[in-house]
Amino acid sequence: MDDKKKEGRYRRLYEQLSELMSKTSHKEARMATFIALLHHKMDYFFWTGFYFLVEEDLVVSQYQGPLACQVLERAKGVCWAALLQQKVMIVEDVHAFPGHIACDARSNSEIVIPVSNRAGDIIGVLDIDSTEKGAFSETDALWLSKMLTLIDEK
Ligand code: SME
Repeated sequence: MDDKKKEGRYRRLYEQLSELMSKTSHKEARMATFIALLHHKMDYFFWTGFYFLVEEDLVVSQYQGPLACQVLERAKGVCWAALLQQKVMIVEDVHAFPGHIACDARSNSEIVIPVSNRAGDIIGVLDIDSTEKGAFSETDALWLSKMLTLIDEK
């Protein structure tokens, strides 16, 4: 999907999510809704979900898509890279990423965004895979980061 089309779609989804978040302040319900909305409205999203730090592990949480790895091997792969480097990772070709953890062989590109709590500590990541190569751009990074802030809004 080109950036212009993404832009229009994210703009509408942002409004819809904002409305949905106002229905409950339960964080789990909000996160599940966030994932379901994005996964079903963005047709290039093949796997959409959260991994959160539990003690020293990255453990899967709300997600949609094929069955995923439940715990990610420490300090390996794209999710851990985003967490440890505290930055958004956009990977055009996951097969070329050293240490990439393939939960499903059909994934070809990936975006991972660190997730922080209200105090600003990184508590996990939002991870999205696509079967298309190079599916994600800065437009996804920008809008997904913006949408994540709605989960913590009053
Ligand atoms: N590919 C990720 C693992 C999670 S799955 O994509 C759902 C990684 O390398 O960290």
